[in-house]
Amino acid sequence: MGKSRQSAGNSLFLRNAWYAGGFAEELDTQPMFSRKILGESVLFYRDRNGTPAAIGNLCPHRFAPLDRGTVVDGQVRCGYHGLGFDRTGKCVHNPHGKTAGLAVAAYPLAVRHGILWLWMGDAGKVDYDLLPRFPSLEEDRFHVRRGYLHGEANYQLMSDNILDLSHIEFLHPALGTDAVSRAKVETTHDERTVTTTRRMLDEVLPPTLAKVYKSGEERVNRTMEVVWSAPSNMLLAITVEPVDEAQNWTTGAQSLHLFTPETDTSAHYFYLASLDREVQDAHTADAFAAALKRAFIEEDKAMIDAQAKAIGHAEIMDLKPALLPIDKAAVLARRKLQKLIADEVAGVAANSSQSVSTMAEGTV
Ligand code: FES
Ligand SMILES: [Fe+2]
Repeated sequence: MGKSRQSAGNSLFLRNAWYAGGFAEELDTQPMFSRKILGESVLFYRDRNGTPAAIGNLCPHRFAPLDRGTVVDGQVRCGYHGLGFDRTGKCVHNPHGKTAGLAVAAYPLAVRHGILWLWMGDAGKVDYDLLPRFPSLEEDRFHVRRGYLHGEANYQLMSDNILDLSHIEFLHPALGTDAVSRAKVETTHDERTVTTTRRMLDEVLPPTLAKVYKSGEERVNRTMEVVWSAPSNMLLAITVEPVDEAQNWTTGAQSLHLFTPETDTSAHYFYLASLDREVQDAHTADAFAAALKRAFIEEDKAMIDAQAKAIGHAEIMDLKPALLPIDKAAVLARRKLQKLIADEVAGVAANSSQSVSTMAEGTV
Protein backbone atom coordinates (compact mmCIF):
# COMPACT_ATOMS: atom_id res chain seq x y z
CA MET A 1 0.00 0.00 0.00
CA GLY A 2 1.27 3.49 -0.76
CA LYS A 3 4.41 4.32 -2.66
CA SER A 4 7.43 2.26 -1.89
CA ARG A 5 9.82 3.80 0.57
CA GLN A 6 13.50 4.25 0.04
CA SER A 7 15.71 1.86 1.94
CA ALA A 8 16.65 2.80 5.47
CA GLY A 9 19.71 4.92 6.10
CA ASN A 10 19.16 7.46 3.35
CA SER A 11 17.16 10.62 2.81
CA LEU A 12 14.08 9.34 4.63
CA PHE A 13 15.70 10.55 7.80
CA LEU A 14 17.24 13.80 8.83
CA ARG A 15 20.86 12.74 9.26
CA ASN A 16 22.57 15.89 10.51
CA ALA A 17 20.82 15.75 13.87
CA TRP A 18 21.28 14.26 17.34
CA TYR A 19 19.29 11.13 18.12
CA ALA A 20 18.91 9.43 21.48
CA GLY A 21 20.75 6.14 21.03
CA GLY A 22 20.48 4.82 24.57
CA PHE A 23 21.08 5.57 28.21
CA ALA A 24 24.67 5.80 29.50
CA GLU A 25 23.66 3.53 32.37
CA GLU A 26 23.17 0.71 29.87
CA LEU A 27 26.97 0.55 29.75
CA ASP A 28 27.19 0.14 33.53
CA THR A 29 25.96 -3.42 33.45
CA GLN A 30 27.46 -4.66 30.20
CA PRO A 31 30.67 -3.85 28.30
CA MET A 32 28.81 -3.16 25.07
CA PHE A 33 25.47 -3.36 23.34
CA SER A 34 24.19 -2.81 19.81
CA ARG A 35 21.10 -1.06 18.57
CA LYS A 36 19.89 -0.39 15.06
CA ILE A 37 19.56 3.35 14.46
CA LEU A 38 18.32 4.81 11.16
CA GLY A 39 18.77 1.36 9.66
CA GLU A 40 22.42 1.03 10.76
CA SER A 41 23.59 -1.41 13.40
CA VAL A 42 25.55 0.66 15.95
CA LEU A 43 27.75 -0.73 18.70
CA PHE A 44 28.06 1.24 21.95
CA TYR A 45 30.92 0.60 24.37
CA ARG A 46 33.33 2.46 26.66
CA ASP A 47 36.84 3.23 25.48
CA ARG A 48 40.02 2.97 27.58
CA ASN A 49 39.07 6.18 29.44
CA GLY A 50 35.59 4.95 30.20
CA THR A 51 34.11 7.37 27.68
CA PRO A 52 31.17 5.99 25.69
CA ALA A 53 31.85 5.46 21.99
CA ALA A 54 29.79 4.29 19.03
CA ILE A 55 31.08 2.40 16.00
CA GLY A 56 29.59 0.24 13.26
CA ASN A 57 28.61 -3.19 14.55
CA LEU A 58 29.55 -5.28 11.51
CA CYS A 59 33.11 -6.52 11.19
CA PRO A 60 34.45 -5.74 7.71
CA HIS A 61 36.10 -9.17 7.50
CA ARG A 62 33.13 -11.56 7.34
CA PHE A 63 30.48 -9.28 8.77
CA ALA A 64 30.26 -10.92 12.15
CA PRO A 65 28.40 -8.68 14.60
CA LEU A 66 31.03 -7.10 16.79
CA ASP A 67 28.67 -7.27 19.78
CA ARG A 68 29.56 -10.97 19.96
CA GLY A 69 33.13 -10.00 20.74
CA THR A 70 34.84 -8.42 23.73
CA VAL A 71 36.30 -5.09 24.80
CA VAL A 72 40.06 -5.35 25.39
CA ASP A 73 42.12 -2.30 26.36
CA GLY A 74 39.44 0.03 25.05
CA GLN A 75 39.27 -1.76 21.70
CA VAL A 76 36.43 -3.86 20.41
CA ARG A 77 37.75 -7.29 19.43
CA CYS A 78 35.74 -9.29 16.94
CA GLY A 79 34.65 -12.60 18.43
CA TYR A 80 35.21 -14.47 15.17
CA HIS A 81 38.85 -13.96 14.07
CA GLY A 82 40.02 -11.33 16.51
CA LEU A 83 40.33 -8.07 14.55
CA GLY A 84 40.33 -5.10 16.94
CA PHE A 85 38.81 -1.64 16.38
CA ASP A 86 39.24 1.61 18.29
CA ARG A 87 36.73 4.40 18.83
CA THR A 88 37.61 6.02 15.51
CA GLY A 89 36.48 2.78 13.83
CA LYS A 90 40.00 2.00 12.65
CA CYS A 91 41.26 -1.58 12.77
CA VAL A 92 44.20 -1.34 15.16
CA HIS A 93 44.76 -5.00 15.93
CA ASN A 94 45.13 -7.94 13.52
CA PRO A 95 46.43 -11.26 14.81
CA HIS A 96 46.74 -12.53 11.21
CA GLY A 97 49.14 -9.98 9.76
CA LYS A 98 49.06 -6.46 8.46
CA THR A 99 45.92 -4.38 8.22
CA ALA A 100 45.67 -1.86 5.46
CA GLY A 101 42.92 0.69 5.93
CA LEU A 102 40.33 -1.64 7.44
CA ALA A 103 37.69 0.27 9.36
CA VAL A 104 34.10 0.38 10.50
CA ALA A 105 31.97 3.51 10.74
CA ALA A 106 32.47 5.77 13.74
CA TYR A 107 29.64 7.92 15.03
CA PRO A 108 30.07 11.22 16.85
CA LEU A 109 28.60 10.66 20.30
CA ALA A 110 27.87 13.03 23.15
CA VAL A 111 26.56 12.27 26.62
CA ARG A 112 24.14 14.73 28.15
CA HIS A 113 21.58 14.08 30.89
CA GLY A 114 22.70 10.43 30.94
CA ILE A 115 21.55 10.00 27.34
CA LEU A 116 23.87 8.74 24.58
CA TRP A 117 23.25 11.17 21.74
CA LEU A 118 24.37 10.08 18.29
CA TRP A 119 25.06 12.29 15.31
CA MET A 120 24.01 10.19 12.34
CA GLY A 121 25.09 12.54 9.56
CA ASP A 122 28.19 14.15 8.21
CA ALA A 123 30.88 14.10 10.92
CA GLY A 124 32.25 17.33 9.46
CA LYS A 125 28.97 19.05 10.27
CA VAL A 126 28.55 18.03 13.90
CA ASP A 127 26.69 20.85 15.62
CA TYR A 128 26.89 20.85 19.42
CA ASP A 129 24.51 23.82 19.54
CA LEU A 130 21.81 21.41 18.37
CA LEU A 131 22.50 18.95 21.20
CA PRO A 132 19.26 18.88 23.21
CA ARG A 133 19.31 20.34 26.72
CA PHE A 134 16.41 19.61 29.06
CA PRO A 135 16.33 21.38 32.45
CA SER A 136 13.73 18.80 33.57
CA LEU A 137 16.50 16.20 33.60
CA GLU A 138 18.55 17.99 36.26
CA GLU A 139 18.45 15.37 38.98
CA ASP A 140 19.14 17.76 41.85
CA ARG A 141 15.80 19.46 41.11
CA PHE A 142 13.71 16.59 39.80
CA HIS A 143 12.99 12.94 40.48
CA VAL A 144 13.80 11.49 37.06
CA ARG A 145 12.55 8.08 35.94
CA ARG A 146 13.64 6.50 32.66
CA GLY A 147 12.19 3.82 30.45
CA TYR A 148 12.37 2.30 27.02
CA LEU A 149 9.82 0.84 24.64
CA HIS A 150 10.12 -0.55 21.15
CA GLY A 151 7.53 0.62 18.63
CA GLU A 152 6.49 -1.33 15.56
CA ALA A 153 5.68 1.85 13.67
CA ASN A 154 7.34 4.72 11.88
CA TYR A 155 8.67 7.24 14.40
CA GLN A 156 6.56 10.06 12.96
CA LEU A 157 3.35 8.25 13.89
CA MET A 158 4.68 8.27 17.43
CA SER A 159 5.39 12.02 17.32
CA ASP A 160 1.91 12.62 15.89
CA ASN A 161 0.46 10.85 18.93
CA ILE A 162 2.07 13.22 21.44
CA LEU A 163 1.36 16.29 19.30
CA ASP A 164 -2.36 15.60 19.50
CA LEU A 165 -3.27 14.90 23.10
CA SER A 166 -7.01 15.04 22.42
CA HIS A 167 -6.64 11.25 22.31
CA ILE A 168 -6.20 11.12 26.08
CA GLU A 169 -9.92 11.26 26.69
CA PHE A 170 -10.54 8.24 24.48
CA LEU A 171 -7.41 6.13 24.58
CA HIS A 172 -6.45 6.72 28.21
CA PRO A 173 -9.65 6.71 30.27
CA ALA A 174 -7.61 6.65 33.49
CA LEU A 175 -5.86 9.92 32.55
CA GLY A 176 -8.51 11.96 30.79
CA THR A 177 -11.82 13.71 31.29
CA ASP A 178 -14.07 15.36 28.74
CA ALA A 179 -12.24 18.63 29.47
CA VAL A 180 -9.38 17.27 27.35
CA SER A 181 -11.11 17.33 23.99
CA ARG A 182 -13.07 20.49 24.89
CA ALA A 183 -9.82 22.30 25.60
CA LYS A 184 -8.59 25.42 23.92
CA VAL A 185 -5.46 24.63 21.92
CA GLU A 186 -2.84 27.06 20.70
CA THR A 187 0.00 26.18 18.38
CA THR A 188 3.11 28.18 17.58
CA HIS A 189 6.23 27.26 15.66
CA ASP A 190 9.61 28.24 14.35
CA GLU A 191 12.07 26.59 12.00
CA ARG A 192 12.84 23.47 14.09
CA THR A 193 10.10 23.42 16.73
CA VAL A 194 6.34 23.23 17.11
CA THR A 195 4.71 24.10 20.43
CA THR A 196 1.13 23.21 21.16
CA THR A 197 -0.62 24.14 24.37
CA ARG A 198 -3.86 22.56 25.54
CA ARG A 199 -5.62 24.31 28.39
CA MET A 200 -8.26 22.24 30.17
CA LEU A 201 -10.46 24.23 32.46
CA ASP A 202 -12.47 23.25 35.47
CA GLU A 203 -12.10 19.49 35.74
CA VAL A 204 -11.81 17.03 38.57
CA LEU A 205 -8.83 14.82 37.82
CA PRO A 206 -9.34 11.08 37.57
CA PRO A 207 -8.10 9.22 40.70
CA THR A 208 -4.72 8.09 39.27
CA LEU A 209 -3.77 11.67 38.47
CA ALA A 210 -5.41 13.21 41.53
CA LYS A 211 -3.03 11.08 43.58
CA VAL A 212 0.05 12.29 41.66
CA TYR A 213 -0.97 15.94 41.74
CA LYS A 214 -2.55 15.75 45.20
CA SER A 215 -5.63 17.54 43.91
CA GLY A 216 -8.20 15.22 45.52
CA GLU A 217 -11.75 16.20 44.59
CA GLU A 218 -10.66 19.77 43.89
CA ARG A 219 -11.71 21.40 40.60
CA VAL A 220 -8.55 22.28 38.71
CA ASN A 221 -7.23 23.83 35.52
CA ARG A 222 -4.71 21.65 33.75
CA THR A 223 -2.33 22.83 31.04
CA MET A 224 -0.40 20.53 28.75
CA GLU A 225 2.34 22.05 26.68
CA VAL A 226 4.09 19.90 24.09
CA VAL A 227 7.26 21.08 22.39
CA TRP A 228 8.36 19.07 19.38
CA SER A 229 11.95 19.62 18.26
CA ALA A 230 13.19 18.24 14.98
CA PRO A 231 13.60 15.46 14.23
CA SER A 232 11.49 13.78 16.91
CA ASN A 233 12.18 14.86 20.48
CA MET A 234 9.19 15.94 22.52
CA LEU A 235 8.85 17.62 25.88
CA LEU A 236 5.45 17.48 27.56
CA ALA A 237 4.98 19.82 30.51
CA ILE A 238 1.83 19.50 32.62
CA THR A 239 0.74 22.15 35.10
CA VAL A 240 -2.17 21.72 37.50
CA GLU A 241 -3.68 24.62 39.49
CA PRO A 242 -6.88 24.95 41.51
CA VAL A 243 -9.77 26.79 39.86
CA ASP A 244 -10.34 28.52 43.18
CA GLU A 245 -7.85 31.37 43.06
CA ALA A 246 -7.96 31.77 46.82
CA GLN A 247 -5.94 28.58 47.05
CA ASN A 248 -2.30 28.93 46.42
CA TRP A 249 -0.70 25.83 44.99
CA THR A 250 0.63 24.61 41.65
CA THR A 251 1.90 21.21 40.76
CA GLY A 252 2.78 19.31 37.64
CA ALA A 253 5.06 16.92 35.83
CA GLN A 254 7.28 16.89 32.80
CA SER A 255 7.98 14.03 30.50
CA LEU A 256 10.26 13.57 27.56
CA HIS A 257 9.45 11.39 24.61
CA LEU A 258 12.46 10.75 22.43
CA PHE A 259 11.72 8.80 19.28
CA THR A 260 14.64 7.42 17.32
CA PRO A 261 14.01 5.61 14.06
CA GLU A 262 15.24 2.03 14.17
CA THR A 263 14.13 1.42 10.60
CA ASP A 264 11.51 3.01 8.42
CA THR A 265 8.86 0.88 10.11
CA SER A 266 10.05 0.67 13.71
CA ALA A 267 11.34 3.02 16.37
CA HIS A 268 13.01 3.25 19.74
CA TYR A 269 11.03 5.13 22.35
CA PHE A 270 13.07 6.53 25.22
CA TYR A 271 10.90 8.24 27.80
CA LEU A 272 11.82 10.16 30.92
CA ALA A 273 9.44 11.46 33.56
CA SER A 274 10.39 14.28 35.93
CA LEU A 275 8.64 15.38 39.08
CA ASP A 276 9.74 18.38 41.12
CA ARG A 277 11.55 17.29 44.30
CA GLU A 278 10.12 20.26 46.18
CA VAL A 279 6.55 19.24 45.51
CA GLN A 280 6.51 15.45 45.08
CA ASP A 281 8.29 12.59 46.79
CA ALA A 282 10.20 9.67 45.25
CA HIS A 283 7.32 7.28 45.82
CA THR A 284 4.94 9.53 43.84
CA ALA A 285 7.52 9.74 41.05
CA ASP A 286 7.66 5.93 40.91
CA ALA A 287 3.87 5.72 40.79
CA PHE A 288 3.69 8.36 38.06
CA ALA A 289 6.32 6.61 35.93
CA ALA A 290 4.51 3.29 36.38
CA ALA A 291 1.19 4.83 35.31
CA LEU A 292 2.84 6.38 32.24
CA LYS A 293 4.48 3.09 31.32
CA ARG A 294 1.21 1.24 31.63
CA ALA A 295 -0.56 3.81 29.43
CA PHE A 296 2.24 3.73 26.83
CA ILE A 297 2.39 -0.03 26.60
CA GLU A 298 -1.24 -0.98 26.88
CA GLU A 299 -2.80 1.99 25.12
CA ASP A 300 -0.48 4.19 22.97
CA LYS A 301 1.83 1.47 21.71
CA ALA A 302 -1.00 -0.99 21.16
CA MET A 303 -2.91 1.58 19.09
CA ILE A 304 0.02 2.97 17.10
CA ASP A 305 1.43 -0.47 16.26
CA ALA A 306 -2.05 -1.53 15.12
CA GLN A 307 -2.44 1.69 13.10
CA ALA A 308 0.93 1.13 11.37
CA LYS A 309 0.05 -2.47 10.61
CA ALA A 310 -3.38 -1.49 9.29
CA ILE A 311 -1.87 0.87 6.72
CA GLY A 312 0.82 -1.62 5.77
CA HIS A 313 3.51 0.76 7.04
CA ALA A 314 2.67 3.18 4.22
CA GLU A 315 3.55 6.85 4.62
CA ILE A 316 0.33 8.06 6.22
CA MET A 317 0.18 11.39 4.38
CA ASP A 318 0.29 9.54 1.04
CA LEU A 319 -3.02 7.95 1.98
CA LYS A 320 -4.71 11.35 2.21
CA PRO A 321 -6.05 10.99 5.76
CA ALA A 322 -9.07 13.03 6.82
CA LEU A 323 -7.39 15.91 8.58
CA LEU A 324 -9.14 17.49 11.56
CA PRO A 325 -8.25 20.71 13.40
CA ILE A 326 -6.65 18.51 16.11
CA ASP A 327 -4.00 17.45 13.56
CA LYS A 328 -2.60 20.95 13.07
CA ALA A 329 0.53 20.56 15.22
CA ALA A 330 1.39 17.12 13.84
CA VAL A 331 0.99 18.27 10.25
CA LEU A 332 3.17 21.32 10.93
CA ALA A 333 5.88 19.16 12.48
CA ARG A 334 5.81 16.76 9.55
CA ARG A 335 6.13 19.63 7.06
CA LYS A 336 9.08 21.10 8.94
CA LEU A 337 10.85 17.79 9.08
CA GLN A 338 10.20 17.20 5.41
CA LYS A 339 11.70 20.59 4.59
CA LEU A 340 14.75 20.01 6.78
CA ILE A 341 15.33 16.66 5.08
CA ALA A 342 14.86 18.16 1.61
CA ASP A 343 17.30 20.99 2.45
CA GLU A 344 19.80 18.49 3.80
CA VAL A 345 19.57 16.33 0.69
CA ALA A 346 20.01 19.40 -1.53
CA GLY A 347 23.02 20.47 0.55
CA VAL A 348 24.57 17.03 0.40
CA ALA A 349 24.16 16.98 -3.35
CA ALA A 350 25.82 20.40 -3.66
CA ASN A 351 28.72 19.33 -1.43
CA SER A 352 29.12 15.78 -2.69
CA SER A 353 32.56 16.47 -4.15
CA GLN A 354 33.90 17.62 -0.80
CA SER A 355 35.67 15.11 1.39
CA VAL A 356 34.10 14.13 4.70
CA SER A 357 36.20 14.73 7.76
CA THR A 358 36.71 12.02 10.36
CA MET A 359 34.64 11.68 13.47
CA ALA A 360 34.33 14.09 16.31
CA GLU A 361 33.52 13.10 19.86
CA GLY A 362 32.39 14.78 22.99
CA THR A 363 30.92 14.45 26.41
CA VAL A 364 28.89 17.53 27.12
S1 FES B 1 34.56 -11.67 11.01
FE1 FES B 1 35.54 -10.33 12.36
S2 FES B 1 37.61 -10.93 12.34
FE2 FES B 1 36.63 -12.30 10.97
FE1 LIG C 1 -1.16 8.68 24.71
